[in-house]
Amino acid sequence: MKLPIGCEMLDSLLGGGVESGAVTEFYGEAATGKTTVCLLLVKSCALSGMPVAFIDTEGVSLERMEQICAEDTEKIQSKLLLYGTYSLRGQEKAIETLERIEDEIGIIILDSASTHYRVELANPDGGKSAIRKLSKQLNALLTIGRKRDIPIVITNQVYTNIETGSLEPIGGQIMMHIAKAIVKLEKMGPGVRKATLTKHRSMPEGRSTLFTITSRGFEVTGDERTEGKNE
Ligand SMILES: Nc1ncnc2c1ncn2[C@@H]1O[C@H](COP(=O)(O)OP(=O)(O)OP(=O)(O)O)[C@@H](O)[C@H]1O
Ligand SMILES: [Mg+2]
Repeated sequence: MKLPIGCEMLDSLLGGGVESGAVTEFYGEAATGKTTVCLLLVKSCALSGMPVAFIDTEGVSLERMEQICAEDTEKIQSKLLLYGTYSLRGQEKAIETLERIEDEIGIIILDSASTHYRVELANPDGGKSAIRKLSKQLNALLTIGRKRDIPIVITNQVYTNIETGSLEPIGGQIMMHIAKAIVKLEKMGPGVRKATLTKHRSMPEGRSTLFTITSRGFEVTGDERTEGKNE
């Protein structure tokens, strides 16, 4: 089963949306659209009638949520289980709560997996405990996703790999193994973004699509735009 994001080109890249029972990762620099993807998924899941668990690490903008959810804001917020976290330990507690919760949940979103991890990397032990903690947390999320057969979506920030000079997702190897689908988001110009599928189990890797960030979320850009089909 796939939950659509609600942006035609992005959904087509992912073969219909984010997959149940698996982790999908969206990574990119600041303002590339990671949180917007999350809010579009909140909307999609809540409007399908299923509750959404959203682990927030950066203080999600309710104003942005209202722009994206528009007239459905109240209905969507009534389906939202929002966990605001301020540390890696707080993030762990939110995940522990989700392990125990008996209510139905349609998706779990972690935005972003690197906010608190980055802070703990500065620990005197060189960040080894941070890597262990994050790895444990992401595995716990994957287990919940598989047991409940729901999608797990995580976002991730990037760092510059000094050897290659390229921007890579933080916590590289941990994420690489746990996520079954990975989408890289890049800035191409004012408001214009590019999404590239860098890993998937059933869709071709390397395909990409352009889109524009708008007040309602994402719209298809330029020649690829199909009139009337997008918000
Ligand atoms: N109403 C709007 N209309 C057009 N663009 C908007 C609107 N609201 C936000 N944006 C754009 O969306 C981008 C931010 O998107 P988003 O918050 O999803 O990024 P992000 O990848 O989560 O960033 P960060 O890493 O800082 O959390 C910015 O470029 C901002 O200008
Ligand atoms: Mg964000």
